Amino acid sequence: MRTLQVELGQRSYPIYIGESLLGEGLIRRHIKGKQALVVSNQVIADHYLPQVLEELEGLECHTLILPDGEQYKTLDTLNTIFSALLEHGHNRSTTLVALGGGVVGDMVGFAAACYQRGVDFIQVPTTLLAQVDSSVGGKTAVNHSLGKNMIGAFYQPNAVVIDTQVLTTLPQRELSAGLAEVIKYGLIRDQEFYQWLEQNIALLMQRDAQALIHAIEQSCINKAQVVAEDETEQGNRALLNLGHTFGHAIETATNYSLWLHGEAVGAGMMMAAEFSAALGWLDKEQLPALAALLEAAGLPLTPPAEMSAEDFVTLMSRDKKVLTGQIRLVLLKAIGEAVVTENFSNEALMAYLNSICEA
Ligand code: NAD
Ligand code: GLY
Repeated sequence: MRTLQVELGQRSYPIYIGESLLGEGLIRRHIKGKQALVVSNQVIADHYLPQVLEELEGLECHTLILPDGEQYKTLDTLNTIFSALLEHGHNRSTTLVALGGGVVGDMVGFAAACYQRGVDFIQVPTTLLAQVDSSVGGKTAVNHSLGKNMIGAFYQPNAVVIDTQVLTTLPQRELSAGLAEVIKYGLIRDQEFYQWLEQNIALLMQRDAQALIHAIEQSCINKAQVVAEDETEQGNRALLNLGHTFGHAIETATNYSLWLHGEAVGAGMMMAAEFSAALGWLDKEQLPALAALLEAAGLPLTPPAEMSAEDFVTLMSRDKKVLTGQIRLVLLKAIGEAVVTENFSNEALMAYLNSICEA
């Protein structure tokens, strides 16, 4: 087992990474009181709830099964978590356990931030995306009908328990979506890891246990460092959004129904790299290798055919990361070196988008 630490002073916490960690007592170790509520969905509970409950024997432990899907990441669902806690008489020393992907993790984290003004919670992420991204760093939220992740809080967990064995049941597209976020860390700040990914992407796609553990560990090391330096995204944490501004435009234009978030981020990272090269920042020679890596990870490289350059500019101007009216992007100076910038002209962006959009 590997153990990392997210260094946030009194709110520091460990990330445990290994094969078959569920049922080994790591979750139990971080429960200080006598009560716990395990929250999951049916798909995940069918596979993994018994192992988690086994290690919580002896506690006053309840479970809550939420409906599966991003469309249920709402205030209404959040309220069912509060109702379960109140109906079962959970007090301020209870601990919430989020057993699931980013949807369950984000909701349970926000419930923990709010219930009785804040109770402990433990992340047990079960998708690759949640293991390398959403379970670490304390961003918690639900969606509003007017915007994704619009109601939330920064609230750190007490521990993150990452069992790579759970990835054996993950659908292949979900694995690829998680790999987009893994590749992101290499691109923004870790050239050595990027090179390792180029050499090991086939093993990762085959779910080789050791390769997955290494990729998750390197991703979490990178994320933990970024979060420790900028917990509330006043500066460099925004680098984690490489490919996301293009990706959000794709998700919005296609009504969140065409691609998974990670797939849109895959195409978005390719676009960010190509635009960086068009500006003369990133060496153009790097583009074919990046395309090969993303393709080997099962990710799309180009935006959906129905999207025009105008669609992108309109949607990107509405992105919540636009502060001044000028579109801000995370772009690449080199593989392993990203910047958050507004330092490009709208004409240059339009020319790039026109060169790749089919519509
Ligand atoms: P998800 O939670 O919807 O999980 C994807 C699907 O996989 C679901 O159907 C789920 O039931 C299923 N599943 C999960 N684990 C499984 C397993 N081990 N075996 C079989 N099936 C399994 O999606 P996700 O990609 O994990 O998370 C997306 C969410 O994460 C979005 O809401 C996004 O906003 C959020 N997010 C948050 C952060 C953050 O920093 N907090 C970062 C990135 C994404
Ligand atoms: N997923 C981006 C962040 O945690 O900041």
